[in-house]
Amino acid sequence: MNDELAAHSAAERPPRTTWIEVSRGALVHNLHLLRNRLMPGAQLMAVVKANAYGHGAVETARTLQQAGADRFAVATLTEAIELRQAGIMRPILVLGYTPPWQAASALAHAVTLTVFELETATALHTAAHAVGQRLTIHVKVNTGMNRLGVRAEDAPALLAALTTLDGLTVEGVFTHFATSDELDKTHAEAQFTRFQAFLETLRRTGLRPPLAHAANSAALLTMPHTHLDLARSGIALYGLDPDMTQCTLPAGFRPALAWKAIVTQVSDLAPGEAVSYGREFIADRPMRTATLPIGYADGFPRRPQTWGSVLIHGQHAPILGRVCMDQTVVDVTAIEAATGPVRQGDEVVIIGRQGDASISAEGASVRVGTNNYDIVSRILARVPRIYVD
Ligand SMILES: Cc1ncc(COP(=O)(O)O)c(C=O)c1O
Repeated sequence: MNDELAAHSAAERPPRTTWIEVSRGALVHNLHLLRNRLMPGAQLMAVVKANAYGHGAVETARTLQQAGADRFAVATLTEAIELRQAGIMRPILVLGYTPPWQAASALAHAVTLTVFELETATALHTAAHAVGQRLTIHVKVNTGMNRLGVRAEDAPALLAALTTLDGLTVEGVFTHFATSDELDKTHAEAQFTRFQAFLETLRRTGLRPPLAHAANSAALLTMPHTHLDLARSGIALYGLDPDMTQCTLPAGFRPALAWKAIVTQVSDLAPGEAVSYGREFIADRPMRTATLPIGYADGFPRRPQTWGSVLIHGQHAPILGRVCMDQTVVDVTAIEAATGPVRQGDEVVIIGRQGDASISAEGASVRVGTNNYDIVSRILARVPRIYVD
């Protein structure tokens, strides 16, 4: 076993042999960089859905709340309640659809819901009446993403109808861009023009609520005229690019997440011997392999493409054979030749820096055939999150 590992007391060691390290300092730093770019008066809504894009929702929200995030957004009521129960006091907006049967729970936890049609709104109003409270809502307007929301042309009528439902307080209206992370802003600008026309109609009829919002991270960074009353930022807070080629972060942002593990076993592989299920990799020469305690049930993908390699001793160790549910085998033959024996307990970096080498979420996403959002948010909750300064 690695001497350094043996010297650590149990209390100092991570609760599993693979873990995520999240830098609170990086989160706070990125928040300040984003805030500095916001138009005067615009608030920052930190998007912490999907376990804060894999960074751990509760600790991430606590850190950002302390650092001055004005509001939070999540995808589901369950995510909002988890934050409330952890002591997050700032307003929390559920961005997705919440069914009326969850209204009482939303009210009990003072969570703001998204609404985009009258039928659900009416049911929410009735539920709020039943407990003698008012439910705060934001109306989602579809200006061209065509995913969720009332069509922009139908939105003024919905806002007018909502004025008759006194169980609801319409605090906000919002839309979401489909292409703000692309260099060509034509569609995003067309969406914003539609949203502004809608806001103008609301203003004329005295129905404009206090908060109108449209910008995600990409728009916060590249379309400052869309900041309105607040910007909803997720990916940039985590120090990751909204798009790897068309919308990279300006200098200064820092990735907040590193994914690490330790080697669990080092073995010899003789020519003709195969590794893992299906015997897909067969050695054609004597090799040294290291086994890692990570698998597809941790969010380390199996198919159709794998991560490619991880870092051991500051060098790339290629994956051999199939990634299993909880374990993966890598080739350390060249690493041992260059740096000396690899041992049980040696540090493995799956995302992050080791020596002169690094693997970014963006780099991994290219090999896996996806984007960096998917890479970090798929790291399952069973991988413990450790928070460092
Ligand atoms: C409605 C909505 N707003 C804001 C965001 C945050 O986007 P980003 O992480 O690109 O800043 C998302 C994330 O997908 C979203 O769905």
